[in-house]
Amino acid sequence: MIFELSNPVTKTLVTHLRDQRRDAIRFRHTIAEIAKQLVYEALKEFPLIEKEITPWQGEGKFSGIDEDNIVVVTVLRAGMPMLDSVMELLPEAHAGFLAMKRDETTHESVLYYDRLPDCKGKNILLVDPMVATGGSIRDAIELLKSREPLKIITLNIIGSPEGLKAVSSAYPEVDIYIAQIDEKLNSDKYIIPGLGDAGDRSYNTLE
Ligand code: PRP
Ligand code: URA
Repeated sequence: MIFELSNPVTKTLVTHLRDQRRDAIRFRHTIAEIAKQLVYEALKEFPLIEKEITPWQGEGKFSGIDEDNIVVVTVLRAGMPMLDSVMELLPEAHAGFLAMKRDETTHESVLYYDRLPDCKGKNILLVDPMVATGGSIRDAIELLKSREPLKIITLNIIGSPEGLKAVSSAYPEVDIYIAQIDEKLNSDKYIIPGLGDAGDRSYNTLE
């Protein structure tokens, strides 16, 4: 299922991202803020467990999400600010890394490095701001599925209708939380209106 956020604050932040005047630090900061909003929405019905902690007095069990059962997987580079932000909300979750680069001629994603913790039976939060053709996220899901997770949820910021459809028809069991579904892809497979290249905007590598 695809869930598009409707909160006006989210939409405002997406508009800030589209503005070319945003420098890299503000761009990453805004990506991080939207990532938090995606987590709140995606986990709003997540079960709570009893956690044994050391409170300021006495002894106690208090409720919280089972963070140990969550793996946050980021797609480099553009997913990095999302990973940091999600891990701030869920500090006891585990992190995994997939380094992928879209070939600018074929537009197909190429995996050049992966470092995943044990995903078996875990809830995966897969973070990548852009779903253009959907190729990167599909390749990421395929790899993750081979690690036998309990569930995969993707957190994305902007997607094209065609890319999202490709992901949801290939993996109907995956829930996709996204801040904004845009109009279309252009002939270079960039999202229109989109925000340009999220990795370049984040790390000042625009040529
Ligand atoms: C971007 C983005 C996605 C991918 C989306 O990464 O972060 O991973 O493109 O495109 P797709 O849906 O058509 O696969 P990119 O390959 O530009 O790498 P970068 O983050 O290092 O810039
Ligand atoms: N990757 C991006 O960062 N932006 C797009 O519009 C497409 C792929």
